[in-house]
Amino acid sequence: SGRDMWGGHFEAGPAPLMEQINASIDFDKRLWAQDIAGSMAHARMLAAQGIVLEADRDAILEGLAQVHEEIAEGQFHFERSLEDIHLNIEARLTELVGEPGRRLHTGRSRNDQVALDMKLWTREAMDRADARLAELQKVLLHRAEEHAATVMPGFTHLQAAQPVTFGHHLMAYVEMFGRDRSRFQDARRRLNECPLGAAALAGTSFPIDRDATAAELGFERPTANSIDSVSDRDFALDYLASAAICAVHLSRLAEELVLWSTPQFGFVRMSEDFTSGSSIMPQKRNPDAAELVRGKSGRVMGHLQALLITLKGLPLAYSKDMQEDKEGLFDAVDTLELCLAAAAAMLLGMKANPERMKEAAGVGFTIATDLADWMVRVKNVSFREAHGIAARAVKRAEERGCGLEALTLAELQAIDPRIDEAVFGVLGVERSVESRMSHGGTAPERVRQAVAAARSRYFPE
Ligand code: ARG
Repeated sequence: SGRDMWGGHFEAGPAPLMEQINASIDFDKRLWAQDIAGSMAHARMLAAQGIVLEADRDAILEGLAQVHEEIAEGQFHFERSLEDIHLNIEARLTELVGEPGRRLHTGRSRNDQVALDMKLWTREAMDRADARLAELQKVLLHRAEEHAATVMPGFTHLQAAQPVTFGHHLMAYVEMFGRDRSRFQDARRRLNECPLGAAALAGTSFPIDRDATAAELGFERPTANSIDSVSDRDFALDYLASAAICAVHLSRLAEELVLWSTPQFGFVRMSEDFTSGSSIMPQKRNPDAAELVRGKSGRVMGHLQALLITLKGLPLAYSKDMQEDKEGLFDAVDTLELCLAAAAAMLLGMKANPERMKEAAGVGFTIATDLADWMVRVKNVSFREAHGIAARAVKRAEERGCGLEALTLAELQAIDPRIDEAVFGVLGVERSVESRMSHGGTAPERVRQAVAAARSRYFPE
């Protein structure tokens, strides 16, 4: 029975319910490649330190290579009574090579083993997140360059505020995803200390070489404290926190795609292959993929909460509660990677409607600030006074049911006699965005510079 592992001080087998609540093999089998890599490094180190014979090491390495092959080819039989991936692999190894397999667990424990496997797996996931974010940035840069001079309304409070360029708006997301990348990179650096050799919690009496295993497995160094090594899941929290923030960005982007693709906005049209129709309303093109990116972001945020709550009351060192770290993390990784890929594909396939955007850019007196700025710049009026003058002009235009640019000079001069003909030069949405040349501003020229700067920052040759 599976209980042989505990050396025989158990008489009865586990209750079926115990197996059901206790076994993690159904999900931690995902760690198989990391588990084998860790065991191989451990076996080499044990032999190099004279803790096992070289012949034992060779048998172990050969056996593990075969286990690797069996699992990779779907030939491995995972056994629930063997609880988890570590015991499943070790049991098969021993079945294959006999006695040497029983020597592999010298100077280690499942506690440092699972911490190691999770770190190796999460490190790869961090690298993949960074790569997918980079792909998404590339698409955004491409579309932003294309639309550097496309005028659209910018919003605050979802009320039309000032004209901006579509390219500038897209570049805002390049910044967000750039910060996400730096969070994953930063988390990776912090993760990269090897827990192997902490053993159960106290270290070991065997003369192990933790520097050797750390180096072989691509870590900067071994962890400094054996108790922390097996209690720590900060690296999973770091992934989840970075992922949760990234999911916020993806969700805001998805929300904008949903909004922009409504017939009422009509700024973009999603490509057909990321939308669905309706079984009853023939005209519908629903932005399902964008809605799902928005919807799935909640799962990623939820997994961060779940792990924080799982860990917060745990005394040191390992407790079985920590086995609950896996399903949430795995699902967060899968969900984030799917959403990043879907967002990139949607942005690539979406069709913008610049005429519609430009038309909307002037609705809601969005050039009122340009009128006020002109009074300050040309007439040396204080900004507070200019703000009042522009507000009265908005009121007048509202009464007349026209835009600010359609007021006559006489009407404007009735509001303030200092206004002259030259004001009409700034009362247009294109002039408005062209004038926003300040650092980080929306002027087309600035957007093109920003695209070039982001390319050399994020994708240096
Ligand atoms: N399946 C366990 C987990 O995922 C592995 C570590 C078990 N350690 C133990 N002492 N029972 O956390």
